[in-house]
Formats: sequence, structure tokens, C-alpha cells
Amino acid sequence: MNILLLGSGGREHALAWKMAQSPKLTKLYIAPGNAGTKLAGENLPVNISDFQAVKKTVLDYNINLVVVGPEEPLVNGIADFFETDEDLKTIPIIGPNRIAAQLEGSKDFSKQFMIRHNIPTAGYLSVTSENLNAGIDFLKELKAPYVLKADGLSAGKGVLIISNLDEAIEELKKMLGGKFGKASQTVVIEEFLSGIECSVFVITDGKNYKILPEAKDYKRIGEGDTGLNTGGMGAVSPVSFADETYMRKVEERIIRPTVEGLQADGITYKGFIFFGLIKVENEPMVIEYNARMGDPETEVVMLRLKSDLVDLLEGVAAGNLDEKTVEFDERSAVTVMLVSGGYPDAYEKGKVITGLEGVKDSIAFHAGTTEKDGNIITNGGRVIALSSYGKNKDEALAQSFRNAQLVDFEKKYFRRDIGFDI
Ligand code: AMP
Ligand code: GLY
Repeated sequence: MNILLLGSGGREHALAWKMAQSPKLTKLYIAPGNAGTKLAGENLPVNISDFQAVKKTVLDYNINLVVVGPEEPLVNGIADFFETDEDLKTIPIIGPNRIAAQLEGSKDFSKQFMIRHNIPTAGYLSVTSENLNAGIDFLKELKAPYVLKADGLSAGKGVLIISNLDEAIEELKKMLGGKFGKASQTVVIEEFLSGIECSVFVITDGKNYKILPEAKDYKRIGEGDTGLNTGGMGAVSPVSFADETYMRKVEERIIRPTVEGLQADGITYKGFIFFGLIKVENEPMVIEYNARMGDPETEVVMLRLKSDLVDLLEGVAAGNLDEKTVEFDERSAVTVMLVSGGYPDAYEKGKVITGLEGVKDSIAFHAGTTEKDGNIITNGGRVIALSSYGKNKDEALAQSFRNAQLVDFEKKYFRRDIGFDI
């Protein structure tokens, strides 16, 4: 089977790496991919926001299955585009349709969904300029810190956590006034939850689901979880506190009600669901849903997924995921992200990356790289994710940190404390 994978980050390199191991794969294409995905398949220079261009690629290359990595094309309706196109409707696409992707694309939609289906989550109020006063009253009722979320997609920057009430009120007004453009025309104000977070992933065909290995990511730029939020500086799997008892609660109270809730609402969801969870006094609650795999979580989840990913994706397409099995690798997996100096603020691109050929006992997943004049150069804030196996987390981390010293580029930075809190 020929597969087209859409995206260009570390998540896509990890998915490509895993799919390339499948005996069911004939040829893997990645659009647009990066300098790393080339090792797993053939990159195609296609703008994935241009659905007509994606269609042409699917037809030109005899693609049998399309896998969507990032959220944006999903929220913009790429799955609907396939379903309604005469030439594409028989070609399965892994990723939810526009409505289903609202679980990620609209915080207000996802909160209403959770309340409707009794899925544990923080109390909230959705505010627009029409009910600003109700929003201010709600903030006054809450205890600090205050959580303000832009309703729409805002590249991971739309969540503010503010310790002071007056400042929170000011920020609420700024958000409604367009701080995050259209994304913050509606703002979700949430009760602050205190606890430890982890990410749980499922793959679903709309009826059946399979739980994939869980992971914990490290979002802050600084060691000890300090400083600005990033896309993710590293990840570990398994997550020690997500033990059997906890995961049973997650499945009973969150995963199953979500998949059943989607069905009850008449929403067909085919693809990955990412549950961003927080453990509050031993009970799991949902912080957010995403309509895709996590990044950098995928760079550890794919290491711990023993089963054939292509076989599972076929199950999603055919609606017989219940006939498939998911096996986990017992080992630990970790990833350490090398990022450009300055990230997540302004940073430079185009730095030559050296040392990749010397990487041993880790897999160097490319997150933001490209090729120029025969060199591999940096092409993003997050550059290389060094993923490793180990008997335990510390053994795996030792491998990733060793290789993190070896792979180099000007102003490289990485966190040396991934996994410190579990
Ligand atoms: P989100 O984009 O909704 O995942 O929010 C980004 C981050 O903000 C989460 O990973 C949490 O660390 C934090 N966060 C979001 N909502 C809450 C909440 N209600 N209480 C505490 N922290 C939160
Ligand atoms: N690592 C968090 C995310 O992918 O959204």
C-alpha cells in the first residue's frame, strides 16, 4: 500500500519511521516532510493547506491511505474535502473531519462536549464581548490563578495563567479585543486545576478504540519547568503515576465516554485522539483534547508501540479496529529536544547541524530541519528530538543526553532535566 503522510515535524518523522517498518507498506511519501523524513520515504514539496494540491498528489502517486499529522488541515476540513470529492471519497484519510476536530479547534465546543457527556474537567465560562460582565463576575468568584483560553487554534500560545485578578480582567479584555485574532473572539475562563499532567492517546475508527502508550511531555523552556511554554522540550513513556488503577479510571471516565459521546452526538471520528490529562487528588480530569498525536510525545509513543502501525491504520479505515491488537514495548522510551537558541521567542534558522552521523543508541527524529548545499540545517525552533530506549527512564535518558552533546549547531539548547519529576 502507498501512504501519504502530511506534515513536517518530529511527530511526522516518528510516524514515518514506524510506518516504514511495516511489511504492509509499499511506498511512503511525506508532504512536505523534512531532512529526516527522507530517510523513511520520499518527500514531496506540497503545501498541505492547499487541498487541491494534496488531491493531485494522491492521484498522481496512487496513494491508498492518507495520514494527517498536524491539526490545522483537520480543523480546516481536509477529511470533509476527501469525503465529498468524487475522486477521493474511496481513499481513506486518518484524521477527524471538521466537526470532530472541533474537539481541538474550539475550546468552547470541547467544554460543552465534556459537560454534556459527564467527562471530568475544570469548571468554566465561555465569554464574548456580549457577556464580558458575566466573565468578570466569574473571574471574581474564582480563586487565583486565573486560566484564560482563546477558543480557537493559536499555535499553542492561546492559554494564559495569571495570578492577579485585575491583570486577568485586563487580559480578558485584550483577548476579546483581538490579542489572538479571531481565535480569542471567544475566551474560555477556567477554574485552575492543580496536579501532575500526562498525555494519553487513542486511535479510533469511530466505534472501537485502542489505547496507545501514555507519555509525559515537558512544555516549559527552562529546567525545573520554568519560563515560557514551548511546543515541548522532551517526553517520557511510561509515566509512573499513570499506573493500572489510574489508567482504568481514565478509560472508564474519559476515553470510553468520549468515543461513545462522539457517536451519541452523531459525530464520526476516525483518527487519533490526544487526551491532555491532569491528576487531581488521584482522579484524572481533562485539560484539553487534541485531534492528532502529540509532539514530542509521538517520538516516544512510536518507540513503545510494538504493533504494526499500518495495520492499525487499516483498522481505522475499515472500521474493524476491534480485530486488531496493540502491544506495548516493555522498555522505557524518552526523547530530548534540541532547540534553537532564543526559542520560543525569536530565533535564527539556517545553522548547519553536525554530528548526526555519529548518533548511536538513539534515534534522531528531525523536527525542524532542511537541506541546503549538501548540509542539514536548522529550519525551526525545535530542531532534533533524540529518542532512546532503556531498561528504565534513566538508562534511556543517559543515551539521549550523550547524543545531545554530540549533535551540534550554533546556539543549541536542550533541557537536561527531562523526566525529573516522575
Ligand atoms: P491547553 O492548551 O488547554 O493544554 O493548556 C496549556 C497548558 O496550560 C496545559 O498543559 C496546562 O499546563 C495549563 N492549563 C490549562 N488549563 C488549565 C487548568 N484549568 N488548570 C491548570 N492548568 C491549566
Ligand atoms: N506536546 C503537546 C502537543 O503536542 O500539543
